[in-house]
Amino acid sequence: MPDSRWCQKTLVEAYRFAARAHGEQTMPDGDRTLPYAVHISSVTMEICAALSVESFASPDLAVQCALLHDTVEDTKVTCQDVEDHFGRAVADGVAALTKSSTLPKSEAMADSLKRIREQPHEVWAVKLADRITNLEPPPAAWSLDKRRAYCAEAQDILEALGSASAHLAERLRRQIARYELQSCTD
Ligand code: NI
Repeated sequence: MPDSRWCQKTLVEAYRFAARAHGEQTMPDGDRTLPYAVHISSVTMEICAALSVESFASPDLAVQCALLHDTVEDTKVTCQDVEDHFGRAVADGVAALTKSSTLPKSEAMADSLKRIREQPHEVWAVKLADRITNLEPPPAAWSLDKRRAYCAEAQDILEALGSASAHLAERLRRQIARYELQSCTD
């Protein structure tokens, strides 16, 4: 069995930090919304499931980066704040998972993937888990072209990072197939 242990105190601290930072932010749930903490928890649950079947050098790094992965991109939290609370390795992981706000949107994902690939596999796994979670049925307002582009981007993520986790790569492959099927039948 892999060593999937992470420190519960560390997890709770990172979760509270992230929940406070995201505050009133919401995420789409079909045509309604849910608190953003649901997204963070879903990504972290994907990571915990992977940790129960695969070995990672640092389960804590994976769990912390999962909980904090959108704090710098979506809130006022800075990489320095993350480093001050959770240390350099977590801050570097979150920084890589944060898309550049200065690059054009078309280049921001490729740039982030390149920076994630310079990080430990725990960080790769968080990006895989994030996209697995985000491939739930999209808001009805999304056009077919937008859905296809999102799917193509998911394929790029799978190809760039899939080798970090056979479990998460397989989960993402299945989510992409399901999502494509939904897009085709609409
Ligand atoms: Ni996310």
